[in-house]
Amino acid sequence: MLFLSRSAAVRAASYRSSAVAFRRFNSDVAAFKGVKNAAGKYTVTLIEGDGIGTEISAAVKDIYAAAKVPIIWEPVDVTPILKDGRTAIPDAAIESVKRNFVALKGPLATPIGKGHVSLNLTLRRTFNLFANLRPCRSVVGYKTPYDGVDTVLIRENTEGEYSGIEHVVVDGVVQSIKLITRPACERVIRYAFQHALATGKPKVLVVHKASIMKMSDGLFLQTARDIAKEYPQIELGAELLDNTCLKIVTDPEPYKPVVMVMPNLYGDILSDLCSGLIGGLGLTPSGNMGDEVSIFEAVHGSAPDIAGKGLANPTALLLSSVMMLRHMKLNDYADKIENAVLSTIASGPENITGDLKGTANTARFTEEIIKRL
Ligand SMILES: NC(=O)c1ccc[n+]([C@@H]2O[C@H](COP(=O)([O-])OP(=O)(O)OC[C@H]3O[C@@H](n4cnc5c(N)ncnc54)[C@H](O)[C@@H]3O)[C@@H](O)[C@H]2O)c1
Repeated sequence: MLFLSRSAAVRAASYRSSAVAFRRFNSDVAAFKGVKNAAGKYTVTLIEGDGIGTEISAAVKDIYAAAKVPIIWEPVDVTPILKDGRTAIPDAAIESVKRNFVALKGPLATPIGKGHVSLNLTLRRTFNLFANLRPCRSVVGYKTPYDGVDTVLIRENTEGEYSGIEHVVVDGVVQSIKLITRPACERVIRYAFQHALATGKPKVLVVHKASIMKMSDGLFLQTARDIAKEYPQIELGAELLDNTCLKIVTDPEPYKPVVMVMPNLYGDILSDLCSGLIGGLGLTPSGNMGDEVSIFEAVHGSAPDIAGKGLANPTALLLSSVMMLRHMKLNDYADKIENAVLSTIASGPENITGDLKGTANTARFTEEIIKRL
């Protein structure tokens, strides 16, 4: 047992309470740090992306210009380079994101089974974007099997099954290591609690498979139980992943007052499942949140099958940019653009793209949004 002098004990207690206070104050974990220029505008890094990326980025830029959003786009090229034998992002792109603290990103194609490491993963690792925030809300006027879906999922974004530690043990036997560390669990779980507080959701739900992965998911779950003590006003629940999948597709309603948080792979899959509840990836935004910078991106990929044909739906990138505007506290512009896109979607098939069972091309859809701003 360690005995402390009275003054040391007082100092220790004060340190503990200020550490707790600091963590609570950090409801601004991942808060936006950018500043306006002399003309009152923020600069935002733009990674247009591959495939349909250029087309949907152009739509976003047109809508922003029409809505007079006070930002300047800074386009960067993220074509991968090799640095010391590893896939890396060009320095100019890294410096742009670091300088602006925020980026909007279109989809980036990843070679399967060979070639460079996923640039999406590289970006998340380069900027330590530890939490992937994926809300899914029903779009009024776009009918799906359930009305009123409103789920929020936070995925650990840096490790777990996506640590990229794989090797051949002997010919025909490979091993992939799921890495879970307490610091990474702590920051994503704390972010989940703070998101619940900030958005008025009373419960954080850890989705896990600690029944099978007793040590790795067990650590994630135990960390959540420890962090929950800092947030007595928020209830903590835990549910097995397979059970959550079954329950949420059977009835998404009970997940409305909940912020779900989970290891990387589970979040990747479950967030697509939630997208399916509201009409698919073309409608789903996301934010990759870090302490220094945040990158907002559509959940869908580069859609090579329709690239260059003017058929892409820009909604997911646009709604991701709306999340970005709220992160930057440009809430009025966010509301204006969100209302315009949602009312366009509700306005009928002649104004929306083929993936939403409409007949419009990207240009027509974009014009309709601009009309409704
Ligand atoms: N975050 C990312 O950058 C990201 C995410 C997923 C996939 N990818 C990459 O994208 C490439 C293609 O992947 P995929 O084909 O598996 O998935 P995908 O999301 O690109 O396409 C799946 C289907 O959805 C359609 N689709 C997707 N987005 C659409 C949109 N905005 N409007 C209309 N239709 C849309 C496509 O036409 C296709 O039929 C791969 O290289 C993959 O690695 C990138």
